[in-house]
Amino acid sequence: MLCFRSLLFSFLATFLIVSSIPSSFSFEEDSLFTAYRTSDISGEYVDGNTGLVLSWGRTERLLADNSSDQDVNSTLVLAPRRTYRKDPLNDFKRYTGGWNISNRHYWASVAYTGAPFFVIAAIWFVVFGLCLILICLCFCCCRREPYGYSRVAYALSLILLTFFTVAAIVGCIVLYTGQGKFHSSTINTLEYVVHQADTTSENLRNVSGYLAAAKQINVDQMFLPANVQTNIDRIQNRINSSANTLSSKTEDNSEKIKNLIEAVRLALIILSAVMLLLTFLGFVFSLFGMQFLVYILVITGWILVTGTFILCGIFLLLHNVTGDTCVAMNQWVQNPTAHTALDDILPCVDNATAQETLTRSKEVTSQLVNLMNTVINNVSNNNFPPNFGPFYYNQSGPPVPNICNPFNSDLTDRTCAPGEVDLNNATQAWRGYVCQTSGNGICVTRGRLTPAMYGQMTAGVNVSYGLYRYGPFLVNLEECSFVRQTFSDIHATYCPGLRRYSRWIYIGLVMVATAVMLSLVFWVIYGRERRHRVYTKQRTPGGFAGDKPS
Ligand SMILES: *[C@@H]1O[C@H](CO)[C@@H](O)[C@H](O)[C@H]1NC(C)=O
Ligand SMILES: *[C@@H]1O[C@H](CO)[C@@H](O)[C@H](O)[C@H]1NC(C)=O
Ligand SMILES: *[C@@H]1O[C@H](CO)[C@@H](O)[C@H](O)[C@H]1NC(C)=O
Ligand SMILES: *[C@@H]1O[C@H](CO)[C@@H](O)[C@H](O)[C@H]1NC(C)=O
Ligand SMILES: *[C@@H]1O[C@H](CO)[C@@H](O)[C@H](O)[C@H]1NC(C)=O
Ligand SMILES: *[C@@H]1O[C@H](CO)[C@@H](O)[C@H](O)[C@H]1NC(C)=O
Ligand SMILES: *[C@@H]1O[C@H](CO)[C@@H](O)[C@H](O)[C@H]1NC(C)=O
Ligand SMILES: *[C@@H]1O[C@H](CO)[C@@H](O)[C@H](O)[C@H]1NC(C)=O
Ligand SMILES: *[C@@H]1O[C@H](CO)[C@@H](O)[C@H](O)[C@H]1NC(C)=O
Ligand SMILES: *[C@@H]1O[C@H](CO)[C@@H](O)[C@H](O)[C@H]1NC(C)=O
Repeated sequence: MLCFRSLLFSFLATFLIVSSIPSSFSFEEDSLFTAYRTSDISGEYVDGNTGLVLSWGRTERLLADNSSDQDVNSTLVLAPRRTYRKDPLNDFKRYTGGWNISNRHYWASVAYTGAPFFVIAAIWFVVFGLCLILICLCFCCCRREPYGYSRVAYALSLILLTFFTVAAIVGCIVLYTGQGKFHSSTINTLEYVVHQADTTSENLRNVSGYLAAAKQINVDQMFLPANVQTNIDRIQNRINSSANTLSSKTEDNSEKIKNLIEAVRLALIILSAVMLLLTFLGFVFSLFGMQFLVYILVITGWILVTGTFILCGIFLLLHNVTGDTCVAMNQWVQNPTAHTALDDILPCVDNATAQETLTRSKEVTSQLVNLMNTVINNVSNNNFPPNFGPFYYNQSGPPVPNICNPFNSDLTDRTCAPGEVDLNNATQAWRGYVCQTSGNGICVTRGRLTPAMYGQMTAGVNVSYGLYRYGPFLVNLEECSFVRQTFSDIHATYCPGLRRYSRWIYIGLVMVATAVMLSLVFWVIYGRERRHRVYTKQRTPGGFAGDKPS
């Protein structure tokens, strides 16, 4: 029996040493606890982001085919300090490439951070498995020889058993609470990103709606040259398809990510419940000396603890990736001009091109407004003699107000002159100046605009207003300032919560795994001590009520 006792204690010692590794390890990694977005879903999440981001990129590209290459000289390494880790693919030299999800060395070095837990899981699985086999052998082969029962060992094992049971229960509570909070903060983050994407696609649809008016502009009559109109049509189709891609991708990805978040939540709840039940039952069974049931639980617990350690490793790995991502997003936001690994997935247009787009959209707005004002001044508000060809349509009544041109001829902002109507309500303002026409397009009632003219003018106003109102938005899209805004919001608002609650989960998992692991050992130890106690009492004269044949 000595073999058994020394075996268990040496095993215990080994494990105490080994399990001190993750705590020191996690302290070393503590600086890496910067942020955590999602657990198992990180890869998927980044993927989802890439999906969104790629479609944003497409949107940006479509408006500026002329984007020049960025300055590749000033490459910025994202999150270099956090990602300075040993790289098993490169002889365990430190990895210096920074956050770069298209680099396998990055993934290898991050995966390596979870290695201690995988090693612990493997050691536990093998060593405890061997112990179980040895215990079995001890049962079968060793003769049961009485050995000294020590009150101290008995009491100590009972105290430690109780202690580790309580620790496991606390761990389960921490894990359960942590997963609840973590779940709500991942869902909030996800909803924020989805909201941003939805706003963008709604904006794009609005722009598309305004540009749709260009179709109604009758080219041969007065307004737009044919090539301008086909250009507007082309832009509109692209905007439309980007909006559709963006919203369908968002919906797809967010659905997938939501499912994953729910799956992780369910898995963690089940894990904490099962561990709680296991701890409780094991404690009760070993107190009452139900050895057979205890051994069944020990074998179950042996596998569950292995799984929990593996889960710890996976959580740490994903935690580090998403923490890196948070930091990388922030650095990307702060360094708008540098070329970074994020630019590979976010093809933002450079500033010059974006400014050019803005200039062009201002130009088109201004020209269209000028054109309409010219028509108002020179045709509608003029009184022509009836023989004056197409310009005479019996216009009469008060003059039609001009539209306020939002830009001067040098495209700086212009304040409206009195009597001018705003672009956004010119359509309503002009309604009062429309006359009724006879069949040949001559006004028969008072008014200075025929219905046909009014239709053309509102179409022109819609196009100008669309470009005026949404031009800056389109430029934001090109420059990625919209993505920058999203990233900095995520960094400032959502990363701290994710970090805190993911740490809870992580701590909970480590607590549960360690406490259940030690409880398992003490179920066995306590069971032995208890039996020896009973055995000793039986042999003690007077301690045994029944008679023994001698
Ligand atoms: C495209 O860029 C080149 C210089 O990079 C410039 O000369 C040209 O005018 C641009 N074209 C358009 C349509 O903006
Ligand atoms: C960028 O790199 C090119 C050579 O690849 C070099 O000629 C140029 O001076 C560099 N520019 C800066 C700003 O470092
Ligand atoms: C899009 O247009 C609708 C109605 O025209 C408006 O209610 C909505 O606020 C607009 N969306 C954005 C993001 O401007
Ligand atoms: C102008 O835009 C408004 C709002 O988007 C829309 O209701 C109206 O039908 C458009 N007018 C024309 C002529 O397209
Ligand atoms: C734009 O997309 C809507 C659906 O979102 C579709 O009904 C409409 O026909 C599209 N317009 C163009 C010009 O593609
Ligand atoms: C990211 O990694 C890929 C693959 O190794 C590499 O081609 C790319 O240059 C890296 N990007 C940056 C910014 O370092
Ligand atoms: C882009 O250029 C404009 C002026 O040309 C400047 O005001 C703006 O700050 C620049 N934006 C970035 C992100 O460099
Ligand atoms: C409109 O009338 C103004 C004078 O009232 C004249 O200078 C201008 O050339 C006219 N424009 C057109 C396009 O006929
Ligand atoms: C047009 O809009 C401006 C503000 O956008 C408002 O002050 C003005 O009263 C409006 N005019 C009409 C006729 O609705
Ligand atoms: C011209 O309009 C006036 C109303 O302002 C109307 O009385 C008159 O009959 C119209 N003339 C023609 C030829 O339709």
